[in-house]
Amino acid sequence: MAHLEALRFRLAGSDDAQAVANLHAESWRRNYRGAYSDAFLDGDVFTDRLAVWTERLREPDPRRCTILAEDGGLVGFANTFFDDDPTSGALLDNLHVADGHKRRGIASRLLALTAEAVVARPEKTGLYLWVLEQNLAAKAFYEARGGRRVDRAPTSPPGGVTSRLNGSSAKLRYAWSDPTVLLA
Ligand SMILES: CC(C)(COP(=O)(O)OP(=O)(O)OC[C@H]1O[C@@H](n2cnc3c(N)ncnc32)[C@H](O)[C@@H]1OP(=O)(O)O)[C@@H](O)C(=O)NCCC(=O)NCCS
Repeated sequence: MAHLEALRFRLAGSDDAQAVANLHAESWRRNYRGAYSDAFLDGDVFTDRLAVWTERLREPDPRRCTILAEDGGLVGFANTFFDDDPTSGALLDNLHVADGHKRRGIASRLLALTAEAVVARPEKTGLYLWVLEQNLAAKAFYEARGGRRVDRAPTSPPGGVTSRLNGSSAKLRYAWSDPTVLLA
C-alpha cells in the first residue's frame, strides 16, 4: 500500500458527487448499522447520499469546505460548514475513510486541513462535530486528536426521515475551542 506521501488532497467539485456519495454510503453501511435501519442501509442509502452530494457540490460555497483524499481513487473526505453555531463555530459534518485505508493517518490529515481552513476564516471560531455513541473507532480517533466531549443528544435521523433510525440511539458532541491544535 502506498505511503501517506503518495496521497493527494484537494477540494471537491461538482464532478466528485458520485464518488463521494459512494464512499459515504459504503461507510454508513459498514459503520452505522444498528443505529440506522437495515432497510435504509440496504436500500435507499446511496440514492439519498447522491442527492445530498449533488446538491452540496453543485457550485462552490464559501461557507462550506469539502476536502478529498485520493490514492488512485477516492479514499477519504471531510466536509465542514463554517460558522454553523454561534458558540461552537464550524461543524465537521462528515469525515469518512475507505475501508482498507484506515490507520494510515488519512483522517488526521483531513482534520488538519479542515482546521487550516477554519483558522484562515476572518472570524476566529472553534470546530465541533457529532458522532454516534456506538462508534468506538471514531470516538477513539477524536479523543486521540484532542477533541473534548461536551454534549450528548438523541441521534438525528438521516435526511430527517425518522423511519431510517433504529430505535433510540445517542450521539456525542466533540469540540475544539481552538482548532490551531489540530494543525499538522
Ligand atoms: C474514524 C475514522 C475517520 C478514522 O480514520 P483513520 O484515517 O483511520 O484515522 P487515523 O489513521 O488518522 O488515526 C489517528 C489515530 O486515531 C486513533 N484511532 C483511529 N481509528 C481507531 C480505532 N479504530 N480504534 C482505536 N483508535 C483509533 C488512533 O489513536 C490513531 O493513531 P494510531 O493509528 O497511530 O494508533 C475512520 O475509522 C472512519 O472512516 N470510520 C468510519 C466513518 C466514521 O465513523 N466517521 C466519523 C463520523 S463522526
